[in-house]
Amino acid sequence: MAGLDPIETASRDELSALQQERIGWTLRHAYANVPHYTRAFDAAGVHPDDFRTLDDLRKFPFTTKQDLRANYPFGMFAVPREQVVRVHASSGTTGKPTVVGYTRQDIETWSNVVARSIYASGGRPGMMVHVAYGYGLFTGGLGAHYGAERLGCTVVPVSGGMTERQVQLIEDFRPDIIMVTPSYMLAILDEFVRQGLDARACSRRAGIFGAEPWTNEMRAEIESRFAMDALDTYGLSEVIGPGVANECVETKDGPTIWEDHFYPEVIAPDTGAVLPEGASGELVFTSLTKHAMPVVRYRTRDLTRLLPGTARTMRRIDRVLGRSDDMMIIRGVNVFPNQIETQVLRSEVLTGHYQIVLTREGRMDEVAVHVEARPDIVDPDLLAAEAMLTAARIKDTVGVSVRIVMEPPGTIERSLGKARRVIDRR
Ligand code: DLL
Repeated sequence: MAGLDPIETASRDELSALQQERIGWTLRHAYANVPHYTRAFDAAGVHPDDFRTLDDLRKFPFTTKQDLRANYPFGMFAVPREQVVRVHASSGTTGKPTVVGYTRQDIETWSNVVARSIYASGGRPGMMVHVAYGYGLFTGGLGAHYGAERLGCTVVPVSGGMTERQVQLIEDFRPDIIMVTPSYMLAILDEFVRQGLDARACSRRAGIFGAEPWTNEMRAEIESRFAMDALDTYGLSEVIGPGVANECVETKDGPTIWEDHFYPEVIAPDTGAVLPEGASGELVFTSLTKHAMPVVRYRTRDLTRLLPGTARTMRRIDRVLGRSDDMMIIRGVNVFPNQIETQVLRSEVLTGHYQIVLTREGRMDEVAVHVEARPDIVDPDLLAAEAMLTAARIKDTVGVSVRIVMEPPGTIERSLGKARRVIDRR
């Protein structure tokens, strides 16, 4: 793989024609081979033959996480199980895990879209890629790994955890690219500081961060502390894993969706109506090329909006605000952790480690935002002033009163993968 895939810069018309053909194939493939889709299409009174133009897709029913659970473990597969060369599964913190499967060709497709993502981030053949996403049932580690190999990189398959060793390997090997969750990147940064090493001096070219929501303020923090480009990468296991959308380093303006493989829609979560480009709502994906587990109008529950293409013809998504299930309703106000993160990171004194604890006193919701100051800042008056300032910023911008709890450096829970931002004790 050298250079852009021609489809990345093809005209919108060319892309639409390809999407139309591929959606038609996916609908036929799903309807013919997955009993769930046969039943769901029949119940909605639609048939793959009713799909003639891209606008016809909205006639087809949505697929939800519940549908995947109801068909646990292999009921959504559209090929005999023997043709599935790999399965992955979601962590299943709420109920049964969701299982996804790949044919050999699906693994090829996946490797290609991740290779394309690394390329878009500035990665090139011959570079070294440090993969600190978890390996295992989670799609992050192996997804990144196959993509980096496909691009022609030297892969360092570290996986998550053992932070001291992460730092040692980064120091000794000097990888060009690091792939990790943004929250774990901050834990790696702490370790650089703890060991008295200069994270900027050993600076890598680019970091490819995703698997959890993060903000432009977090990007600024990581870029300045490490002297690297920080790119946003988006994906989910049900759709393929990492490699659904990735920012282009030349614009850094939200992940470009690899629309030749994943067809996006944004819908109103309550009515299911398809929203116009630019309107915020729930992101929905139809896979265009997947054999083992095609998905038709899969509701991601991720909230964002579609934006026109910039560095590529393909459309972008705005930074994902969060999942609808991550939304906190605090005294009637809808709040996402990202909104709190933005305000915490406006401070020069605070680090990006934070956790939100919700409790109920009587009938009132109480919100405590636990934060940490940079280790070199110890003046109690300064810390108290910073806490007040941050609470005021949150009140002004988010609209809720919160208590800021200044924790000693290093004490807020560190994640090795996806950070747990909210603890709801109500
Ligand atoms: O997190 C796949 C992945 C691995 C993406 C590595 C990027 C890098 P799941 O475990 O199925 O798959 O979780 C998918 O994570 O629906 C979003 O809610 C969230 N998510 C993923 N990327 C981003 C991102 C992987 N860049 C779920 N921004 C998705 C915000 C993200 N949220």
